[in-house]
Amino acid sequence: MARARTSVRRRAAPRRHAIRKRPVTDALRAKIRKELPEVEEIADRGLRDKVVEAWAKAIAESSFSSISAIPGAGNPRQKVLKKGHQAQHIRVVARMALRLAEELAQMFPDFRYDRDVVLAGALCHDVGKPFEFDPRHQRFWGKNKRAQGWPTVRHPPFGVHMCLSVGLPLEVAHIAGAHSAEGEHILRSHEGTIVHFADKACWGILQTGGLLSDCD
Ligand SMILES: [Fe+2]
Repeated sequence: MARARTSVRRRAAPRRHAIRKRPVTDALRAKIRKELPEVEEIADRGLRDKVVEAWAKAIAESSFSSISAIPGAGNPRQKVLKKGHQAQHIRVVARMALRLAEELAQMFPDFRYDRDVVLAGALCHDVGKPFEFDPRHQRFWGKNKRAQGWPTVRHPPFGVHMCLSVGLPLEVAHIAGAHSAEGEHILRSHEGTIVHFADKACWGILQTGGLLSDCD
C-alpha cells in the first residue's frame, strides 16, 4: 500500500544554548549569607542552610556572580531601581513581610503565622530570578519566541524548581511559585499572602516614591 504523503512542515529547531554551571562552593555560600543577613534570623538551622543553598545554586547556574549583580527590578526589562540592586529588594521584602506579620499579631492576638516560613519564603520568593534575568537566556529566548515561548520560564515557576531541588519544604516553594501573577490562579497560603503583599508593596511604593526608572 502506498504511504500517504504528509505536508507537515517542521520548524527548524533553535540552536541550543547552555550556561556553564559553576560548582556551589563554601565561598559562594558565605557570599550569599553576607548579602542576605536576614537568613540568620531563621530559627531552624536546616531551613536556614537550605535557603542559602537555593540561592547559591541559583547563582552558580547563572551568569551572575552574586544576588547584588542582578538588576533591582520585578521583571526583566521593567522599571528598575535607580540606585540599588536585587539583594536589597529581597532583604526589604523579608523585613517588610516579617513586620507586617508582627504588627498584625500585636494588634490581633488570634493572628497566627509561621515566622520561619514567612522569612524563608520571603528570602526565596525571587530565587528564580538569576535564571529568568540572565542576559544570555533573555537574548536567546527573545530570538526564539515562537519556538520557546516568551519568557520561556518565568522566575516564579523556576523558583519552585530551585527550592525543591535543594530540599526546601513545599510551603516555601509555594511562596516562590505564588508570590506573583501565577498566584492569582490558585489559593495562596497564609504566609504566601503576607509575602505577596510585602513584595507588591515594595515595588508599588518605590514607584510612587520616584525610586524606579524605565530600564531603556
Ligand atoms: Fe520580589
